[in-house]
Amino acid sequence: MSFCKFPDDFLWGAASSSCQIEGAAFEDGKGESIWDRFSHIPGKIVEDHTPAIACDHYHRFAEDVALMKSLKLGAYRFSIAWPRIFPDGKGGPNRRGLDFYERLVDELLEAGIEPMATLYHWDLPQSLEDRGGWTARDTAKYFTDYAACMFEALGDRVDFWITHNEPWVAATLGYGTGEHAPGISHMPSALTAAHNILISHGSAVGAFRELSRKGSQIGITLNMSPVYPASSDERDILAAKRWDGCLNRWYADPVFLGSYPEDIMELYSGAYGSPDVDPEDMRIIATPIDFLGVNYYSRALVKADPEAKPLGLSSLNGDRPQTAMGWEVYPEGLYDLLLRIQEDYAPPAIFITENGAAYDDQLELDGSVNDDERRNYVHAHLVQLHEAMEDGAKVRGYFLWSILDNFEWAFGYSRRFGIIYVDYNTLARIPKESAKWYRNVIQSGGVSC
Ligand code: FCB
Repeated sequence: MSFCKFPDDFLWGAASSSCQIEGAAFEDGKGESIWDRFSHIPGKIVEDHTPAIACDHYHRFAEDVALMKSLKLGAYRFSIAWPRIFPDGKGGPNRRGLDFYERLVDELLEAGIEPMATLYHWDLPQSLEDRGGWTARDTAKYFTDYAACMFEALGDRVDFWITHNEPWVAATLGYGTGEHAPGISHMPSALTAAHNILISHGSAVGAFRELSRKGSQIGITLNMSPVYPASSDERDILAAKRWDGCLNRWYADPVFLGSYPEDIMELYSGAYGSPDVDPEDMRIIATPIDFLGVNYYSRALVKADPEAKPLGLSSLNGDRPQTAMGWEVYPEGLYDLLLRIQEDYAPPAIFITENGAAYDDQLELDGSVNDDERRNYVHAHLVQLHEAMEDGAKVRGYFLWSILDNFEWAFGYSRRFGIIYVDYNTLARIPKESAKWYRNVIQSGGVSC
């Protein structure tokens, strides 16, 4: 067995998001978010859980940063709750909301941990949703104002910024299928939302270039999966290309190439009518970024299915073991994905901004959580990541999802992704075995392979 050593300046991190861990949903002037509203509609979330308390990170952030320090984390990716800063989405900022993130960032820097801030991880102010949410173009303008406010407040201390987390999920599950907040099921609205989210990304990057310090960086995080055809049948191959277009190219092409993929544009226009896309929009969306954030959990496997309108495809389960989310464990997909991104888009740098797994963890009587499966999952992905880097992928850091068990959106607290166990009765934090293992990975700078 040999040792896969990562570069000395590689950033080893873990990730979270505001709505999933903070709690304090209405404290210190925070406004209602679309997830506060949506989670109170009976039947939308497993067991009708809500993010109202979550991990209570809002009050326990110092304890959480101390835990991160004990794990030797080099970096921490968190998100900012827009409704904490602008309770109504716009207007004047809420000083107490800004204070919270200033204290969090100071605590991280004091602990020697690099902060990476995501501006939008799905908790839109409800009052903006009441005015159309992401289907309204004004939301992109308000987002840019909010982003500028954060660059001014934290730009002297935060070097790494992410505009959006997973626009595909925010637009498709939020406005297309209704599984996520705000719960709208109308595909044309999802496409409009996706377009406005991308515009807001580009225009926030523009604001960053005016306001940021030299050396600080900004990017966007996309959920990307390599898409494999179920067989070598030409129809399955075409179906895979189509799904790749909807999931990956629809977002990465505009950001890096300044245009939507033609094949998918044709398909969507036929099915939903031509979207309202101005050439100036495309110029804004393609404002150059410093890095691409990639969230990778599993591959996609699809077959042609003429009955399934309008895409004409359906997805299959692969034959490998699955996590508690029902997601197939497919580490080689990360290798394939990274080399493809490098070849097709050549971003200046890549960060793996999320990768990890949910399992049915048990807290043992001796206080331990023996989550071997999670450790194996992360280990296997780090081996593939290392190989991709050796073969040319310019990856600069890895953020494990997640630092803590948390509110897993429509699954509520029923799915545990943390390397630190959270007892939701007492809110006690208990590092799992995977956390101890990850600390060793960080200390030794690599994994056996
Ligand atoms: C990603 C989300 C993150 C978390 C993981 C499991 O899609 O960005 O918030 O829910 O999935």
